[in-house]
This record gives sequence, C-alpha cells and structure tokens, in this order.
Amino acid sequence: MLAEFVGQTVESTLLDPDDCWQPTDFLPDFSQPDVMDELIQLRERTDNIPDSVISSLVGNMITEEALPSYQTYFNLMVNEERDLTSGNGWVRWSRAWTAEENRHGDLLNKYLYLTGRCDMKKVEQTIHRLIYNGFNPQTNQDPYQSIVYTSFQERATKISHVNTGKLADKAGDNSLSRICKTIAGDEARHEKAYKTFMTKIFEIDPNGALKSFEQMMRKQIVMPAVLMAEGAKNPNIFSDFSAITQKIGVYTTWDYARIIEHLVALWKIETITGLQDGMAKAQDYLCNLASRYKKIAERMKVPDEINLEWLSNKKMAF
Ligand SMILES: [Fe+2]
Ligand SMILES: [Fe+2]
Repeated sequence: MLAEFVGQTVESTLLDPDDCWQPTDFLPDFSQPDVMDELIQLRERTDNIPDSVISSLVGNMITEEALPSYQTYFNLMVNEERDLTSGNGWVRWSRAWTAEENRHGDLLNKYLYLTGRCDMKKVEQTIHRLIYNGFNPQTNQDPYQSIVYTSFQERATKISHVNTGKLADKAGDNSLSRICKTIAGDEARHEKAYKTFMTKIFEIDPNGALKSFEQMMRKQIVMPAVLMAEGAKNPNIFSDFSAITQKIGVYTTWDYARIIEHLVALWKIETITGLQDGMAKAQDYLCNLASRYKKIAERMKVPDEINLEWLSNKKMAF
C-alpha cells in the first residue's frame, strides 16, 4: 500500500528528466567564443566570497558527491527484489531521487573548480575518502527510522543551501546564489515527499512510527558526510567543517532544534491518538527535545576562525 503511494509521489513530486535543470544551465559554455569573458566575470564575482563561505560550500559539495553511498543505503533498505529496474514504488523513487541529486554535486564541483579558490586535489581526496568509508546513519535496518532520517536530512540540506545562497548574494555573486536556491528547491521537494511518507506511516502504524522517531532522535541525526575524516591525515576535517557552518550560520544547533520542532508539530506528536501503554514516555521525550537543543544552542560559544586545507593558498590574477 505504501509502495503504491510512494510510486504516485514519483509522478507528482519528482520531475521528468527532460524537464529538469542541468548543471550546464549555470556554467560557462566552453563551446562558445565568449567563454573567456564568462570565466573572467565568474572569477570577479567569486573573488570576494569569504574563505569561510567557500569552505562551507566545499563541505556541502563533498556531502552531495557521496551520493553512491546514499543510493546504496536506500536500496539496502527498500529494494527487496534486488532489482534496480524494478517497477516497485520505492525502487522507482530511489532511482528518480538519485538522478535529481546527482546534479547537485556535479554543479557545485564544476563551479568551485572554475573559481580557482580551492585546492581541488585535496577536495577530491576528501570525496574519495568519504565514499571509501561508507555511510552509517544509524537507522538499524529499520525502514521507519530511515524515513525519519531522510525527512530530517533533506530539510537540513535545504537550510544549508538556502543560507549559503544568502551569503553568496551578500558577497556579490548572484550566480552562485541562484545555484544554491535552485538546489535548495530540489531538496525542498524531496523533504516534502519524505515527510509525507512518514505521515502515512504515522497513520498506518502510530506506535511503530512514534517508537522509531524516538529511537532515531535519541541517537541524534548524524550528518551524511560525518565519515569524511576517518582514516584521513587530518582527522579534524569534519569537525572543522561543522564549526565553520556553525560560525557563519549555514547550519547550526538552532537549525537542528527548529527541525525537531517542525517535525514534532507536523506529525502531531503531542496529540497523537491510538497509542499503547508506555508510549507516553516517547511522546514526552520528543515534545521536550527541541527546547533542550535550544538551551544547548544558547550556551554554545562561537568557534574560532579555521582555515581548511580545501582552500587554495595562492590567489591568481586571472
Ligand atoms: Fe542534494
Ligand atoms: Fe536531497
């Protein structure tokens, strides 16, 4: 029943490949004679973007580039037939979703490459390392927890791209701002769909859904790129990246708290009915969680300025 609903959502929420934007819509066209002028303009626009914003954007791009791990994870969860061409709603969703997501890393990677602001080899090594290490959102093979995770994470990603777009605008790069807003638009559609899947699960199985939501939040939502530093020469890359997004307001503990608040309200956790004995504890835990994170956010001190190895150290006049 749910698979059928998910299949319908592919049609209503995801786009036909022919109607989708593609990375080249936002990039200089190397087949055109004026490409060098376009490149000069791109360099002029991106020269004034603060290092911290470039670092944060690189981290977002690396997160998007580990898509092979996310598709693998999703299929392990939903693809019971072990057939990637299956007509099952979940499998169709996973293909269409992956195809949309695949453009995000492509576009940001190419754009950042053209800015000349990055040490691209270091960036590529981090992408390599992250895919090499895999992805563990700690959902314990529980499909409900994985839908809670994806609902949360798509919203978190949307917030990061929206905030990066605002900072790009402020720095005078309205092309980058348009890129970030466009990607955020995709994430918003994905977020809406995952939240709707979970809403359906709450209707069908309120006890199981509530239990999974509680279990997921007790473990905390780890960022998809959390393993980027595991085994790397610099073991602090991920924590440095997180500190930067916190410092410049791209993604903060406040956002984490507000996402919980949003999901708790959306799934009507406070007034949910048809619960078994003992579930009131889970309800209480979830209803009080956002304010606990807000208290943590209030007490957090602003991290120091950090320079990440992803940045190029020589600025070239172009
Ligand atoms: Fe994405
Ligand atoms: Fe997404």
